[in-house]
Amino acid sequence: MPDDLINIAGVKEDFKNSLASAKTFNELDEVRVKFTGKKGALTLLLRSLGKLAPEERKETGQKLNLLRDEIEHDLTTAATKIRAAENEKLELDSRIDVTLTPKNDFNGAFHPVMQTMHEIMNIMQGLGYSVALGPEIEEDFYNFECLNIPKWHPARDMQDTFYLPDGKLLRTHTSPVQVHSMLEFGAPLRIICPGKVFRRDNDTTHSPMFNQMEGLLIDRDVSFSVLKGTMAEMLNAFFGRSLKYRFRASYFPFTEPSMELDIECVKCSGHDENCRVCHGTGWLEVAGMGMVHPEVIKAGKIDPEIYNGFAFGIGLDRMAMLKYGINDLRLLFNGDISFLQSGF
Ligand code: PHE
Repeated sequence: MPDDLINIAGVKEDFKNSLASAKTFNELDEVRVKFTGKKGALTLLLRSLGKLAPEERKETGQKLNLLRDEIEHDLTTAATKIRAAENEKLELDSRIDVTLTPKNDFNGAFHPVMQTMHEIMNIMQGLGYSVALGPEIEEDFYNFECLNIPKWHPARDMQDTFYLPDGKLLRTHTSPVQVHSMLEFGAPLRIICPGKVFRRDNDTTHSPMFNQMEGLLIDRDVSFSVLKGTMAEMLNAFFGRSLKYRFRASYFPFTEPSMELDIECVKCSGHDENCRVCHGTGWLEVAGMGMVHPEVIKAGKIDPEIYNGFAFGIGLDRMAMLKYGINDLRLLFNGDISFLQSGF
């Protein structure tokens, strides 16, 4: 039988070459079909055995069987190798490279009011104040009665206060925490209380929910100058510079005497009569305060003959707006992501 009819060596060489260049399962499959498929080279060789003379058939048949075994073995080995390579690639592709910069750099941030709250809390904690918290749903007693707010006081009006059906109310200020804290901790006492307060107000400069920070100091022989010094310390630290102050006589039922504190306009320092922040007055009202009324100290079960003190309340939303130059109150409440992400 001439070699060109049963060219075993040629088919073998052809197979080895084809196999060497098959890098994927698809390519491997093509090789398989090319040699062992219905019209494959090996299949044709096996079929042509019948045309051989019987004496040649045996020897060539054995050779072809060996070739078939070798081809099958090589195909299986190649498949195993390809699978291993693909697995390795898959693992590499899915591995997380922690050194890469993230695609969308989406950082969370504190809301400017929360940022302000934390900054003032830090300053006051540095002055020895502890943080006390009180309930947002209050009893009339704590929100008004014990703060010396008589029944006829306009602050109790349905216009200002959100009343709940059970007679409780949403606290209209953080001052109820004054009496809660005196009852809980006694004297001497230094606390601040940040939190949400609620009033039936809703226009471009008022929101029905806003944030206050209450401060209360109870001790012996507390003078008004300690209050002044504390406020100056706090505000200078918060705004990062020494500001001018102005204390104006005012009225709160729970402090006597009562004051309101103005600081110099943080925008124009009084130099711009068209200033949008202070409207040309040069001053900004930032806090209500005063010496705690003896009736309030009594309500806190502390003896006003021995102890006195001061209290103040500041609007955190306003402080945030002043510090970060935010000129529209609504920006603080409408959850605009691009505003919140601008970083404070
Ligand atoms: N509670 C007052 C208000 O909401 C502020 C205040 C607090 C005044 C403490 C005096 C003392 O307006």
